[in-house]
Amino acid sequence: MVALNDSKDLSAHVALAVAGTQIGARRWNGSKMKAAYIKKTGPPEVIQFGDLPDPRPKRTECLVRVTAVDVNPIDVYLRSGLIPAPLTFPFIIGRDLAGTVVETGAAVKRFKPGDRVWASNQGTDGRMGTFAELVTVDERWLNTIPQTVKDEDIVALSLVGITAHLGLVRKAKLKGGEVLFVNGGSGGVGSSVVQMAKILGARVITTAGTEEKVNLCRQLGADLAINYKTQDVDAAIKDFAPKGIHVWWETLREPNFERAIPLLATRGRMIVMAGREARPTLPVGPFYVKDCSLHGFAMFNATPSEQRAAAEDINQWLVEKTLHARIDRILPLAEAAEAHRIQEESTVRKSGSLAGKIVLKP
Ligand SMILES: NC(=O)c1ccc[n+]([C@@H]2O[C@H](COP(=O)([O-])OP(=O)(O)OC[C@H]3O[C@@H](n4cnc5c(N)ncnc54)[C@H](OP(=O)(O)O)[C@@H]3O)[C@@H](O)[C@H]2O)c1
Repeated sequence: MVALNDSKDLSAHVALAVAGTQIGARRWNGSKMKAAYIKKTGPPEVIQFGDLPDPRPKRTECLVRVTAVDVNPIDVYLRSGLIPAPLTFPFIIGRDLAGTVVETGAAVKRFKPGDRVWASNQGTDGRMGTFAELVTVDERWLNTIPQTVKDEDIVALSLVGITAHLGLVRKAKLKGGEVLFVNGGSGGVGSSVVQMAKILGARVITTAGTEEKVNLCRQLGADLAINYKTQDVDAAIKDFAPKGIHVWWETLREPNFERAIPLLATRGRMIVMAGREARPTLPVGPFYVKDCSLHGFAMFNATPSEQRAAAEDINQWLVEKTLHARIDRILPLAEAAEAHRIQEESTVRKSGSLAGKIVLKP
């Protein structure tokens, strides 16, 4: 249990604990919560919205009343079966959440009822998905939401923000003054990479598919934003960075090394993090003679402490207002199937219909 500092804390804790007990009692009576779940993989219509039993927290878990979730491309790949994964049905979809702790397991140390929290990396390795009114999360995966930060903002930056941080800080080891190119700066990951690279002191080049999104990338801080549909991207990169790119972040599922390696600087690093089916040719000669390196990673492999290091910076940058969430729309949780349809159309079929995250609220 948490250490309580004064009587004010204690009375607040008792009140919340009572609330927690009531929720517990409801659950023991077989109480139900609303959730978005699937019983088989398939198109967005396989997502059902209905009643499932309230979950109960195990010793190291918190029971969180969810206030906001968001959609990521991985949710679409799992739900559709594009990425075969061992799922237990009914499978509650969703990776990220923001919410409030309503009950804690006996061994929970860092949180107490009433704490506002966020998490990513749920719905995998036997962990419960997040598209529900109540979710149990092991405290290792939970982060505090700073007082001034909105639930929908933090949830929209959770998976994509952690991904951007892991890639820039742990993998590419981006340094101030370096030139970073991110292909796809208007997307969930790309818009986080643009902002964080600027915070870390880099000069940033990016691409987007419409003039409106090019302008949005500039507003995010990009020094050069290029329309990949109407402009010669490679010529613009060479013009901006004649000595080459220090870090090339590829968000597309079809990395093109033949194109990227000549544009890299000596000791340039390239990040690849999408496209499980991709099998591009690597031109080894031009790659090694420039001392280049290639870094692949998946955020779901990061340990809780690695994720927390990223989460702490994300929290701080949100408080300082140097990092901003990009939200395209907010929908009720009951419209989870529609949210998946839009995300799939935008990411998989490349309609470009989204300019930010889809957030849903129970
Ligand atoms: N490895 C990991 O840990 C990890 C973590 C998160 C995501 N991912 C993967 O990373 C990928 C991107 O995720 P996301 O959430 O950022 O997706 P997203 O929000 O759908 O963004 C996709 C981006 O691709 C851009 N794009 C499409 N065609 C392009 C082209 N020909 N040239 C340049 N840009 C183009 C889009 O730009 P416009 O809209 O302007 O056309 C958009 O910015 C997904 O495949 C996802 O599964 C991997």
